Amino acid sequence: MTQAADQLRYTKLPLNDGTGSLPALGFGTLIPDAHATEVATRLALEAGFRAIDTAERYRTEKEVGSAMQQVFKSGAVRREDVFVVTKLWNNNHRPERVEPAFEASRRKLRLDYVDLYLIHTPFAFQPGDEQDPRDAAGQVIYDRGVTLLDTWRAMEALVGTGRCRSIGLSDVSLETLKEIVAAARIKPAVVHVESHPYLPQWDLVDYCRANGIALQAFAALGHSSRPSLLEDPVVTAIARQAGKTPAQVLLAWAIQRGTAPLTTSKTPSRIKENFDVSAIGDDAMQAIRDRITTRARFNTVVETGVPGFIPRDR
Ligand SMILES: NC(=O)c1ccc[n+]([C@@H]2O[C@H](COP(=O)([O-])OP(=O)(O)OC[C@H]3O[C@@H](n4cnc5c(N)ncnc54)[C@H](OP(=O)(O)O)[C@@H]3O)[C@@H](O)[C@H]2O)c1
Repeated sequence: MTQAADQLRYTKLPLNDGTGSLPALGFGTLIPDAHATEVATRLALEAGFRAIDTAERYRTEKEVGSAMQQVFKSGAVRREDVFVVTKLWNNNHRPERVEPAFEASRRKLRLDYVDLYLIHTPFAFQPGDEQDPRDAAGQVIYDRGVTLLDTWRAMEALVGTGRCRSIGLSDVSLETLKEIVAAARIKPAVVHVESHPYLPQWDLVDYCRANGIALQAFAALGHSSRPSLLEDPVVTAIARQAGKTPAQVLLAWAIQRGTAPLTTSKTPSRIKENFDVSAIGDDAMQAIRDRITTRARFNTVVETGVPGFIPRDR
């Protein structure tokens, strides 16, 4: 199949709540510099990305909103063709804090509605304006006065307001996800977790598929961390043989296994490269599954409750 005829990059995953679908190939905005975030988001939309991921915690919503306004106003992209995701941070898990936090995010993004609102992690922090509350010993101060289900109920109340289309969970284990699914009035539409060939999470992928939940996979290229996925010999051999880059092989693998990979780049050529994805063969899919035995989790928040990746001073 020629690359022009290949539709893989336009794959969409249907959502279980009937609101539509999630574009599989997504662009994340966890970029330390505010101006770089705005430029990268605009370039990503211009390159063809139609799913944009941000979060209250990244402190990039204003820049992401500004980039989106630029492309909407230019007429290059329509609002209704972009799927915008943002997330509730840990200091806002108390039910009465959920809607104000959502509204603050929506306004910064300059949107009438948000496509998907996620609980960023299942760990509630001390309620208040401090995003990273720590005690004198430097330990995170958790909030034991609220459960994840309490927060989920407040998320459910947002759906139906017309301002929040779908809700979901991030950084959850399969066990936690099952508990919420069992108790929920509205099931999570999307689960957003780290996943790539070094952390394939097949159990979670299978559970999500069986329950109609879309799995969005962050750090799809390994977050520039070691061991390096982009230098993995199985991946580089497939890339050489197929005339693709290792990043394109990893993204094709993620889409073809039914997940929705998220990448981030502040580098214009990489933004284009990461959207220019086409299918890899069944042999390559199987080789990645069977011959890559390295296992690595780059963001340990699911296990420790202490968020990773975000610099402490943000
Ligand atoms: N829920 C959560 O807890 C959570 C956690 C982490 C991430 N996320 C979301 O997921 C998004 C993606 O995660 P991530 O940042 O870990 O993604 P990633 O794409 O695996 O890693 C980004 C890194 O890869 C580099 N890169 C990107 N494309 C490349 C390419 N084609 N070739 C070589 N290097 C490349 C980037 O470098 P340059 O920028 O220098 O080009 C950057 O250093 C985040 O932005 C965020 O929206 C969510």
